[in-house]
Amino acid sequence: MFNFETLIYEKEDNVAYVTLNRPQVLNAYNIRMRDELYQILGAIKDDPEIKVAIFKGAGDRAFCAGADLSEFLTAPSPTVAREVRWQRDVWGLFLSIPQPLIAALHGYVLGSGIEMALCCDIRIASEDAQFGLPEIGLGIIPAAGATQTLPRVIGQAKALEMMFLGHRVNADEALAMALVNRVVPKADLLPVVDELARQIASLDIVVVRCIKQAVTRGLSLRLHEGLELERRLASLVWQFKQ
Ligand code: COA
Repeated sequence: MFNFETLIYEKEDNVAYVTLNRPQVLNAYNIRMRDELYQILGAIKDDPEIKVAIFKGAGDRAFCAGADLSEFLTAPSPTVAREVRWQRDVWGLFLSIPQPLIAALHGYVLGSGIEMALCCDIRIASEDAQFGLPEIGLGIIPAAGATQTLPRVIGQAKALEMMFLGHRVNADEALAMALVNRVVPKADLLPVVDELARQIASLDIVVVRCIKQAVTRGLSLRLHEGLELERRLASLVWQFKQ
């Protein structure tokens, strides 16, 4: 159905599996991956058979080591390279997916890698995972959503510290700051994520989607607006059940 160069897309029992597949460069995110991811995200969003999607990285060493630095080096400047990435709103599309998304994180989870993980709803890490935003060292700001998504997940102070210092945090530190939901031994990562996805896929899809919408949209609203959104979604679920 799809023939991708940088990603593997699979579908089984209402679960979609997206594998970042450039292991020779630690799954670095390049323009081709951006275009293919955009296509896959659209397909997931529009596919009523898909109840949950899993994002993972090929190879032993990384989920994703960030933007492809070789493209940065061939562009006139990192800023120009970054602008090219804005030509498609992958991150806006990612955050608009109605189904629950789970990130299975191992090894290096840097730059766009951590930003991709932050577009997911649940993050499970293996013990070897290392997280970081090295953009500051390249003279740019994280611009695949992290300035907005990271503080919403770990709080303003910790997010700013990670962005200012560009240092790496290990899996236990990531768990302590609630950047990830759970840390598991490396061999258990994919089985644990798969089990979690299948558990969610077995639930009522309308209820699951409404919960996701209430929580994710609600985070950008004032409390009274969020409560109003919750009320509307609750009555939608109620009507659907009649
Ligand atoms: N873009 C392009 N290629 C990358 C890459 C990236 N972001 N990250 C790693 N690679 C490539 C390396 O060039 C190397 O390729 P080679 O074997 O052809 O030389 C291969 O992946 C393995 O990486 P290497 O650096 O040899 O592994 P390491 O264990 O010594 O270091 C990292 C791993 C992740 C610490 C290091 O690769 C790194 O700092 N990468 C860049 C991270 C970054 O700044 N990302 C951009 C954020 S905006």
